[in-house]
Amino acid sequence: MLRAQVRLDDLQVDPATSHLADAGGKRLRPALVLLAAELGPHPEAQAVLDSAVVVELTHLASLYHDDVMDEAPMRRGVPSAQELFGNSVAILAGDILFARASIVVSGLGPRAVELHARTFERLCQGQLHETIGRRDGQSAREHYLAVLADKTGSLIAASARYGVLSAGGNENMADVVAEYGERVGVAFQLADDVIDIISDGQQTGKTPGTDLREGVDTMPVILLREQQAAGTLDALGLRILERLESADLSSDTALAEVVGMLRRHDVVAQTRQLALQWVSDALTFLEGLPHDDVREALTAFARATVQRTA
Ligand code: IPE
Ligand code: IPE
Ligand code: MG
Ligand code: MG
Repeated sequence: MLRAQVRLDDLQVDPATSHLADAGGKRLRPALVLLAAELGPHPEAQAVLDSAVVVELTHLASLYHDDVMDEAPMRRGVPSAQELFGNSVAILAGDILFARASIVVSGLGPRAVELHARTFERLCQGQLHETIGRRDGQSAREHYLAVLADKTGSLIAASARYGVLSAGGNENMADVVAEYGERVGVAFQLADDVIDIISDGQQTGKTPGTDLREGVDTMPVILLREQQAAGTLDALGLRILERLESADLSSDTALAEVVGMLRRHDVVAQTRQLALQWVSDALTFLEGLPHDDVREALTAFARATVQRTA
């Protein structure tokens, strides 16, 4: 279904719209839809499959746009869409995928449509706040965590909610798994920011250090700055911050050097620890569920978001 939804009869445009779906990806969000659907009475319903496709299409659309904004050269192990087709085509292809998601979700009724629209609004707000920076009086950490909840937590929370509701589950259950999903999403993105530093492009299919190069402070760098402000930052940390301020990170050597120093710094382990805390927090929402295979799978799913290396 997903493959069919990214295809266009227009052969001139089809390579762009099907590019990222063809490249694969972890398909984490549709997996969560299917998993959460097991909490409802009809996990085999067509609506479950439809919503799984909707969340992945929406995710895909956001990735096309994100890679333009982040000037990311690689995604899912292949050149990003704008590398191959240019910014305008990549943006428009992302819009088409979003339109396709809207068409599929329209078959699920007005509530599903509203959830989709509200989710995408939050996702865009997260991207906007990341782009614009923090407001007066907001700490870097507070701003960053709010960005993560909006840009990543929202769609993962919605995936869990879609699963329960499209399988005919009740509202209470949907609320519970959405709370779980939101926190799993924050943990997932925290882990992603660690992976941006510690993994090589071979494993992730992305270019390491992209956040640093774009000047986006993610949690490891925020921790360095917090420690600097508290006067507890070590010499290595000071050197890293110095480089971030002065070096031209468009040079591959300079970027590799900063990435190498960060890999050796304890803020990476500290960020992982924070991600684990968000996972624990997510798991508290599962406490009311029966101890069965589904709960076990949801637990494993939450843990895997942090333990991954790609
Ligand atoms: C990438 O998401 C964007 C983030 C929210 C970190 P994924 O890591 O789920 O990307 P794919 O779908 O597997 O490529
Ligand atoms: C993920 O943001 C994009 C969305 C959540 C829409 P990032 O820019 O942090 O993720 P990657 O590293 O490019 O996948
Ligand atoms: Mg981004
Ligand atoms: Mg990006």
